Amino acid sequence: MTDGRKQDSLASHLAPHEIPADLDIIVVDHPLAAARLSTMRDARTDNSAFRTALRELTLMLIYEASRTLQVQYVPIHTPVARTNATRLSNPPLLVPVLRAGLGMADQAHALIPEAQMGFVGLARNEETLQPTPYMESLPESLAGRPVYVLDPMLATGGSMVHTIELLNARGATEVTAICTLAAPEGLRTLADAKLGVRVVTASVDERLNDSGYIVPGLGDAGDRQFGPP
Ligand code: URA
Repeated sequence: MTDGRKQDSLASHLAPHEIPADLDIIVVDHPLAAARLSTMRDARTDNSAFRTALRELTLMLIYEASRTLQVQYVPIHTPVARTNATRLSNPPLLVPVLRAGLGMADQAHALIPEAQMGFVGLARNEETLQPTPYMESLPESLAGRPVYVLDPMLATGGSMVHTIELLNARGATEVTAICTLAAPEGLRTLADAKLGVRVVTASVDERLNDSGYIVPGLGDAGDRQFGPP
C-alpha cells in the first residue's frame, strides 16, 4: 500500500498529525472491511453476528498483513505441465491475546494453516487501565520468526506493548499487531516504545474516552463476543 493511499484512507476522520510518522501502519481501506466493522460497531448487533463479522474482518486483515511473508518455490506437476508451487517458507506464529483476541484466532489459522499458535492472557485493571498478565504460552525462541499478535482493540497500547515485550524477550524482531480498531493514543504509545512493530488495522478512530474506551469504537470487544464475564 502506498503512502498516498494510506493518507486517503484516513483523511475522512483523522488529521494526518495524529498518525505517528515513525510507526509502520497499514489501514485496510476496503468497502468489505468497512461493512464488517460497521456491523461490529452497531450496538444492536448481537454476540453471534458480532463474532461472525469479527471473523470475516480478521480474514481481510490477515490477508493484507501476510503480503510480505517469505515464500519458496517447489517444483510440481499440474495435470498439464511442470510448474512451481508457492509455499510459505517462514509462517508466522499467531498469538491471540485472551480474551478478546480469541475470536480472531480460528480465522487467522484457517487462512494460514501452516502457522503455529501461542497465547497471552492479559486482563485490564479498569481503575489503572494497566494490563495484568495471567497466562503466557509461547515457544521458547522466536528468533527469526514473524509473529502476528491478534487483539481487536488497540486502545491505550499498554497491553500491546506488554505483549510485544514478552515476544521480544524471546527473540522476536518482526512483530505485527493485527487490530480491528486503533486509537491515536495507542499508536503514539507504540511509536514511543520504539519496539519496531507494524500495525494492521481497519480503522484509526478519534480518541479514547475517560474510561479508556475507543470512540466511536465498538464497546468492549470481549463482552460483544462472549457476553459480560
Ligand atoms: N478494549 C475494548 O474492548 N474496547 C475498547 O474500546 C478499549 C479497550
